[in-house]
Amino acid sequence: MNENEIISEILRLADERDALILAHNYQRDEIQELAHITGDSLALSMEAARTDKPVIVFCGVHFMAESAAILAPEKIVLLPRLDAGCPMADMITAEGLREFKKQYPGVPVVTYVNSSAAVKAESDICCTSSNAVNVVASLAEPEVILAPDRNLGRYIADQVDKTCYFWDGYCPTHERFTVEDAKAAQAYHPDALFMAHPECPPEVLALADHICSTSGMYTFAQENPAQQFIVGTEEGILYRLRKENPDKEFILPTTRLVCPNMKLTSLEDVLKALQTMGPRVTVAEEVRIPAKVTLDRMLAVPRD
Ligand code: 13P
Ligand code: SF4
Repeated sequence: MNENEIISEILRLADERDALILAHNYQRDEIQELAHITGDSLALSMEAARTDKPVIVFCGVHFMAESAAILAPEKIVLLPRLDAGCPMADMITAEGLREFKKQYPGVPVVTYVNSSAAVKAESDICCTSSNAVNVVASLAEPEVILAPDRNLGRYIADQVDKTCYFWDGYCPTHERFTVEDAKAAQAYHPDALFMAHPECPPEVLALADHICSTSGMYTFAQENPAQQFIVGTEEGILYRLRKENPDKEFILPTTRLVCPNMKLTSLEDVLKALQTMGPRVTVAEEVRIPAKVTLDRMLAVPRD
């Protein structure tokens, strides 16, 4: 089958199975083009919960499909590549978090959605890059544990009047983006605005004009009259930025901003998932129920 035939067959099968295809903003261009809905981690989890479709094909990484399975256990959640994990999510375990919590009795744990269901189940509330500050500010306690991303944690801590304790995890993709990369891009494109994802190191964020989630970058680029933007996040985001803003220029400051896990899913994998109805992601009820409480608390926090 050539690419067009594969795409037609995917769409035919998605129709036959009554499946919704979701793709994260970092997926390969052709996967984003094919998906029914693209979005950031929060938006995709909410779509998974809201849809009346019985089957969700999650083109993303494992924790995202798990979030969908937590929120919508009655649905069949397919992850076309079961090996598409998130190294940051793997930097924390439920057992490790339980030990960490012992150092700070009574302090609530705010966990980034980039985490396993078991870690969510050990936490008090989740956050994503688009709502993290609101989530932490919504808590009554003067102290919080922020896990697992130390960079997102420091970004939050700078904006809230609370004592924060950080888990020492990070995203290897955003960690590869250095101050030197950012400064060189700014020197080469002095009129460009620099937008950065909060997973970037703090010294990089200090140089940014705007810090936001992946979806926040689409809004910023569309609403801001600037013509050039330096993009401080995974390169997959460029596809829609360029499509939606054909007259604007988007500059990736380094070729190292590629997440290998996000790039695993191919059209062939999506087709196979729909043909075989697998691999399927499920979460055991004893983990799913407390993990859902953690996600539901996040979803109840008002958005800006
Ligand atoms: P958002 O899409 O929520 O900004 O998350 C970025 C990310 O790293 C997902 O893995
Ligand atoms: Fe995980 Fe970073 Fe890849 Fe997102 S970009 S899936 S946080 S490794």
